[in-house]
Amino acid sequence: MENIKQTLLDAYNFRHACKLFDATKKINDEDFNFILETARLSPTSFGMEGVRLTVITNEQLKKDIKPFCWNQNQIDSCSHLVIFKTRTKDLKPYSEWVKDKFSQRKLPKEAQEKYMQVYENFHKSLKSDDIYEWGTRQAYIMFSSMITSAALIGIDSCPIEGFEKEALEQLLSIDTNEEEISLVCTFGYRENPQPQKFRLNLEDMCEFKK
Ligand SMILES: Cc1cc2nc3c(=O)[nH]c(=O)nc-3n(C[C@H](O)[C@H](O)[C@H](O)COP(=O)(O)O)c2cc1C
Repeated sequence: MENIKQTLLDAYNFRHACKLFDATKKINDEDFNFILETARLSPTSFGMEGVRLTVITNEQLKKDIKPFCWNQNQIDSCSHLVIFKTRTKDLKPYSEWVKDKFSQRKLPKEAQEKYMQVYENFHKSLKSDDIYEWGTRQAYIMFSSMITSAALIGIDSCPIEGFEKEALEQLLSIDTNEEEISLVCTFGYRENPQPQKFRLNLEDMCEFKK
């Protein structure tokens, strides 16, 4: 058990926001599929799985995307660039997607209808009823699994919130009636040594009520 804890802590220390990747080093399919599998197994609220990933390895497309991501060098030096998109249309209460998700558990009809009502009420209670924001939270959970699992196998990453959402959606021909970009993340192998980590002390981060 102690070994596992240390392995995980080592991975958390290894992970940093990598600002420049070695563009000559590419992640192999087996490793990237492992990272994707940890995204697939991540939890989603109500089990809705309302996030779709676009995995980009095409060099020209990465170059085209870069200007819409604040010209950050991670974009065209990375091996794999992942776009997380929230299925805004599918996540609406009573959509076919939501119905399918509730029916896959093979619950009695009344129980499924009850779930559907709870789901609808939950969405009505969300501030500004924003399905995109809600879906985006699920994308962040996935992304967090991915950067940790990547670090565990020696792969670097950098999350990218610095992007122009509408312009990027246009470039990627995303139908925004169906889905919207929530987050971008890059993966690859670092070019430079990682910088010093700055973090609060545990006591400054937590309060304990015993
Ligand atoms: C959601 C999210 C979005 C981020 N977006 C960017 C970004 O666009 N560009 C960048 O260089 N770093 C980005 N970062 C990295 C943070 O700046 C970085 O994680 C933080 O400074 C802590 O450093 P560390 O990750 O190296 O420990 C982002 C981090 C998170 C969690």
